[in-house]
Amino acid sequence: MEHTLTYSKPKEYIYIVQASLEPTRCKIGKTNDLERRLKEYNNMTGKSKNNIYQYLFTCEVNDMAQVENDIKEKYSALREEKSREIYFYNSELFKHYITFIQTHTLFIKELFIKADDKIQTVKIVKRTTPSLKERGLAFKDIMQKAQKADNDEFYTRYEDIEKELSMYDKNIWKYKTVFCNCDDAVDDDEKNSSAFALYFLRNFKELELSKLICAHYGGGIDLFNQGTKGYIFTKDGFREFRDSPKDYTGSFDDPLSLKILREDTDIVCTNPPFSRAIDYWKIIIESGKKFLIISNIANPVTTAFIPYFKDNKVWAGYNRVDYFLNPKKQLVDAAGHWFTNLPVKNRPKYKHLKIILLKDIPEKYKRYDDEGMLLVDNCYIPSNYKNPFAVSTRTILNGLLEKGYKIIQDKKYEPFINGKNCFARVLVQKV
Ligand SMILES: C[S@@+](CC[C@H](N)C(=O)[O-])C[C@H]1O[C@@H](n2cnc3c(N)ncnc32)[C@H](O)[C@@H]1O
Repeated sequence: MEHTLTYSKPKEYIYIVQASLEPTRCKIGKTNDLERRLKEYNNMTGKSKNNIYQYLFTCEVNDMAQVENDIKEKYSALREEKSREIYFYNSELFKHYITFIQTHTLFIKELFIKADDKIQTVKIVKRTTPSLKERGLAFKDIMQKAQKADNDEFYTRYEDIEKELSMYDKNIWKYKTVFCNCDDAVDDDEKNSSAFALYFLRNFKELELSKLICAHYGGGIDLFNQGTKGYIFTKDGFREFRDSPKDYTGSFDDPLSLKILREDTDIVCTNPPFSRAIDYWKIIIESGKKFLIISNIANPVTTAFIPYFKDNKVWAGYNRVDYFLNPKKQLVDAAGHWFTNLPVKNRPKYKHLKIILLKDIPEKYKRYDDEGMLLVDNCYIPSNYKNPFAVSTRTILNGLLEKGYKIIQDKKYEPFINGKNCFARVLVQKV
């Protein structure tokens, strides 16, 4: 009699896990045993007892290695540089990750999904606070504001400002008025002043500035604030004063801020709120003023911003910004980069661009998508290729557009390979 051994393939899972003390990051991984993997996280040596790992999402898939790879590729810009399986986390990103996994062709079924906890970040309303209706707001507006509050309240570290600004010719500041139009301006306590304001105050003389103007936004994280608490701090030569004009919100698009931008400003320098980046870039670029700002590292492959890079209205500054401080002054991961229209000389990152003959580019870094478009990775550039090809944000940040290449399409390029969506890029061509 013949015996057949039946072998049942172990199940394969994809999970998103988070440590309680690291709310701005999550890990996305694969395993055959969800329970054991969670135990491993919680038993890691050197881990604090208070730092509890919990699943945010788990699901069963076919071919977990493939799904994990596709996630890595899709969200490469959102992965932490050093430990590549760590991704930035907020409720919006979380929705993106799980939608990507749930709609993946190898997805089988969902096992667990954590309810959105962001709702709890809304401040408790005192009885004296006017109702939403009285303030002309829908609940949706408040929820959107709450979800955005986290990221908009990330503060730039002094050292990141120093590192970037030290790269520019000092003469650009001479006799100039600098406007920090998204700053918490200057507080009596240095600890509560924005690092931008502090930097320019400390270096006012050295840079030979004429004037520094910092706007304090009245909204901030006080979601239910309805007063107009905006104010302006000015240092004009030796004089320093603070103004709270009636009805001034401190917003960069407040009529008074726009007037200062148009009439007084030479250079704008700040880290604007991420949630308002599209409006902010439009205003600053249309103003025709010089600027040096921090924004999302993926802007060069994001449709709303691509036309500015294409038309040479903006280019990358020198550095990326990997960390910010949250309102509790704790270090949080970031995916920021400096962007500017000030002259950038001898960009050190040119050295990362590998401009060589197409035939010499390693196979794994050149692929053709389902449309026949050439995609190159790892900053390889085919020097003898005359047709358009697709590159990642990193290639643009490393200065490709200053090396005889131009962007040829106003929107991002989303390649598909064997029907599968790969991460966004931008189409470029040799001039
Ligand atoms: C990403 S934080 C950066 C703060 C500061 N510039 C820094 O780099 O440390 C963005 C800041 O913009 C403020 N803000 C939010 N909406 C604003 C608006 N409409 N106009 C001006 N500032 C705003 C936030 O309160 C927050 O302080």
